[in-house]
Amino acid sequence: MGKRKALMAGNWKMHTTVVDGCQLAVDVSRACTDFPDREVLLAPPYTILSEVSHILKDSPIIVGSQNVCWEEKGAFTGEISPVMLKDAGGSAAIVGHSERRQIFGETDELVNRRLKGGLSFGLMMILCIGETLEEREAGRAFAVLYEQIKKGLADVAAVDMAKVVIAYEPVWAIGTGKTASNEQAQETHAFIRGVLEQIYEKNIAEQTRILYGGSVKPTNVDELMAQSDIDGALVGGAALDAKSFGRIINFQ
Ligand code: PGA
Repeated sequence: MGKRKALMAGNWKMHTTVVDGCQLAVDVSRACTDFPDREVLLAPPYTILSEVSHILKDSPIIVGSQNVCWEEKGAFTGEISPVMLKDAGGSAAIVGHSERRQIFGETDELVNRRLKGGLSFGLMMILCIGETLEEREAGRAFAVLYEQIKKGLADVAAVDMAKVVIAYEPVWAIGTGKTASNEQAQETHAFIRGVLEQIYEKNIAEQTRILYGGSVKPTNVDELMAQSDIDGALVGGAALDAKSFGRIINFQ
């Protein structure tokens, strides 16, 4: 881990009913003592955002959503606005998750609109990027990531980068049990930081947190977090179990 404050984020995806999700929030908050050097974020489904925020209101855990629209309100069936998210107690949002891109056809342009919309309402925004196995095997991983970063951050002002977190999630490592090797992850994170330096400047690249995601588990978190350009984790499956996520938060 570099000099940036680590961010350990749990993406609950389309899991948990009201009862399970509230219990999980209670259990995670118990597993999470107040670390000065790291932040913890939970992204429950929309249906329990408000309950989870309420449970965590006296804890340092940040609550966020798994996606967000750019408009305050209006005819956007199926969407939630940054204002609604904040009203429910959330202060962060994930955008561009590969499941949104692959299953629901979200493009870089749409992701960029969501990102800018969330920023304009003061949310912390986690921009997910990642290549498929096919793209990696064809030697195109860096080209794909470059495009996703360039387009995802289009027209995002340097000053707003303080609220942006990048999550590198190789699509082939999500939910598959396969993790990028520590070297592969570090090399890719360093590349991403280089692109940020090219778009903005060295300071901004140095300050931006870049999370790793894709089968992060209690057994691999320590070595991933030991890499100098890995500043945290975006965790799916293992975040649904308070004991596992607690161990992940408590990485050594
Ligand atoms: P996983 O999911 O930890 O289950 O691989 C990560 C993610 O999709 O954010």
